[in-house]
Amino acid sequence: MSRLSERPTTAEVGAARPHESAALHVTGRALYTDDVALRTPHLLHAHPVNAPHAHARVTRLDPKPAYDVPGVVRVLTGDDVPGVNDAGTKHDEPLFPTEVMFHGHAVAWVLGESLEAARIGAAAVEVDYEPLPSIITVVEAIEQGSFQGAQPRLERGDVGAGLAGAAHVFEGDFDFAGQEHFYLETHASLATVDDDGQVFIQSSTQHPTETQEIVAHVLGLSSHQVTVQCVRMGGGFGGKEMQPHGFAAVAALGARLTGRPVRVRLTRQQDMTMSGKRHGFHASWKVGFDDDGRLQALEATLTSDGGWSLDLSEPVLSRALCHIDNAYWIPHVRVDGRVAKTHKTSQTAFRGFGGPQGMLVIEDILGRCAPSLGIEPAELRRRNFYEEGQATPYGQPVRHAERLGLAWDQVLTTSDFAERRAAIDRANAENPHSKRGLAITPVKFGISFNFTSFNQAGALVHVYKDGSVLINHGGTEMGQGLHTKMLQVAATALGLPIERVRLAPTRTDKVPNTSATAASSGADLNGAAVKDACEQILARLEPVREKLGAAAPWDDVVRTAYLDRIQLWAAGFYKTEGLTWDAAAVQGSPFKYFAYGVAAAEVTVDGFTGAYRVDRVDIVHDVGDSLSPLVDIGQIEGGFVQGVGWLTLEDLRWDASDGPHRGRLATQAASTYKLPSLSEMPTDLRVALLERATEDGAVYGSKAVGEPPLMLAFAVREALREAVAAFGVSTPSTGSGTGGTKPSVELDSPATPEAVYWAIERARGA
Ligand code: MTE
Ligand code: MOS
Repeated sequence: MSRLSERPTTAEVGAARPHESAALHVTGRALYTDDVALRTPHLLHAHPVNAPHAHARVTRLDPKPAYDVPGVVRVLTGDDVPGVNDAGTKHDEPLFPTEVMFHGHAVAWVLGESLEAARIGAAAVEVDYEPLPSIITVVEAIEQGSFQGAQPRLERGDVGAGLAGAAHVFEGDFDFAGQEHFYLETHASLATVDDDGQVFIQSSTQHPTETQEIVAHVLGLSSHQVTVQCVRMGGGFGGKEMQPHGFAAVAALGARLTGRPVRVRLTRQQDMTMSGKRHGFHASWKVGFDDDGRLQALEATLTSDGGWSLDLSEPVLSRALCHIDNAYWIPHVRVDGRVAKTHKTSQTAFRGFGGPQGMLVIEDILGRCAPSLGIEPAELRRRNFYEEGQATPYGQPVRHAERLGLAWDQVLTTSDFAERRAAIDRANAENPHSKRGLAITPVKFGISFNFTSFNQAGALVHVYKDGSVLINHGGTEMGQGLHTKMLQVAATALGLPIERVRLAPTRTDKVPNTSATAASSGADLNGAAVKDACEQILARLEPVREKLGAAAPWDDVVRTAYLDRIQLWAAGFYKTEGLTWDAAAVQGSPFKYFAYGVAAAEVTVDGFTGAYRVDRVDIVHDVGDSLSPLVDIGQIEGGFVQGVGWLTLEDLRWDASDGPHRGRLATQAASTYKLPSLSEMPTDLRVALLERATEDGAVYGSKAVGEPPLMLAFAVREALREAVAAFGVSTPSTGSGTGGTKPSVELDSPATPEAVYWAIERARGA
């Protein structure tokens, strides 16, 4: 076992602890960025001037009338930018645009003594627009050849020969929706300047270093003049990986120009209309199976809807390509990827980062083809699992492939899958108006940033003279429990009770050059860096321990070390070894390991309305040796439910008509955008962690957990498909194995009750 993964016999890691801020969260005492803002004297409030067109040229912008509004202090326009007028890293995102690229795009910002003054001021700013033709849907973009960024191709073997030799060939296409992050805390930033004009920004950001860099280039400053702090986020889910930068830059610009603290905090409607979402995709595919249902070849084109600028669309697309195989060995593969450019918000990271989109394509293919092959979907999936020794289409060996089968078998057993399957078939045969479905699906998800350089992290650990410990690390807390895990790691490494360790908020002047807290790798990377810092300190304390004897209490060792002039703090660092990635060739071993999971879901569908409920879900998920089991189970439950939301409820609608509101997001609030809530939780949800699952390559034998469980939700979608199919057949299915072929069921995504209703109508007609 590696030194990194070795765990002492008594350890704080592995203890079931509540989230370190749980008590603050539930009592409302936890402070978020905007709570800090509202406690700041002399605060100015910012309000955007939103364009009412999907695509238009700004022909005139006159801020003067806004200054007649009482309480308006300053209008910010492109002329005010001292540095680079760009909010991104690709230089395709003007912060103050002269060309409006989506409905709601902010062309100017107004600062006021109150938010109301700023709002009325924003309405008073006079802007003339020359409307331009717009592209709203990904299909329109494909028709018009509107793409942006690289067009990677993932290829292995000979797809033509593979399809030619396949006994069964199917083809189809699939247009599926994105997802709104709907973090509880909307985008928020607070900027202040010091006596020398240096900027301090508190931002709800998953990537403080990049927020710092972008604020610096907008203001024409160096990074050392800009400090970014993130106290905590009320959810990020990937939506705060790149999107906070522009809002932070507006606050910072306002603070520099007025000398006063400036707050930007979006309302829910502003957040939904102005910030990027999960990419919806269009996929077209052709697939070949042999007579036993073994995948032979897959040819596909994935087109993601990138919105108006690139943002993270290219890496999201890479991850989609790298996950189109999910858990399945496909000898011949050719997948082309491209990013559509449309006049919508700039779509961005969202839990899974393209992985869910890639995997949805193959799961949809298997769900659609199983009936035509005459093979039970569960059997079809199981037959195609990777085996140890096989590699992904991009060339990475699938280590621990046997865990797929282990988790699968465990779910089949603990969920009584076979008995329930038989009972459901009997019930379906008797009940014409309500049908049940039961499905089981696997997840294999690669852990690490595809881009190798991002796989590094830093930490700063201080031991004070009284023996208490303060830790800082490069990761941000968004509710996922990273800080809880880092406290447990430090306590374990130092051999201290967790109460002796405190954790301070993430700041770029404590730990510099950090990566986004993303790709689920926060605990892997920062945990290893915290451990490294602790071990450096322990090594320096060795001579003191020898002098005082092994039984000497920690506080005595620390006091003596101080008097002996031994450095009691350390900066830790970690980089993941053994990663390779060629983004252009789409080849390499970009992931340190794979996280595995399996879910079985049962649903009941009403034939009159398409309404359904999720009755029971059984999950077995691989988190290695858990650092913090309560946190991990929370992540699995939360990720799963968020995935169910994406696949079955959450329906982003843009106005794609030629009317005056073309391009406007029609679902701008919780009233029209349906989120999963307590009432959509499965009645019976059982989560187990895969046992004996030590991961040799990661801190204390653990595995990342943040994103992979989202994709367990495919089981619900596939269960809905089975229930829909049951409305179309009069005889019960034959259980496992090869029976006769049956009509295949196509299901929209999201599979809303309405979509399920239409699928039932089609199944009845088939
Ligand atoms: N859990 C909560 N409660 N809130 C969040 O915003 N974000 C998810 C996941 N779990 C998120 C969450 C996403 S998108 C990622 S990448 C990981 O947490 C990031 O944290 P980690 O790297 O520490 O797992
Ligand atoms: Mo998560 S989508 O990698 O922030």
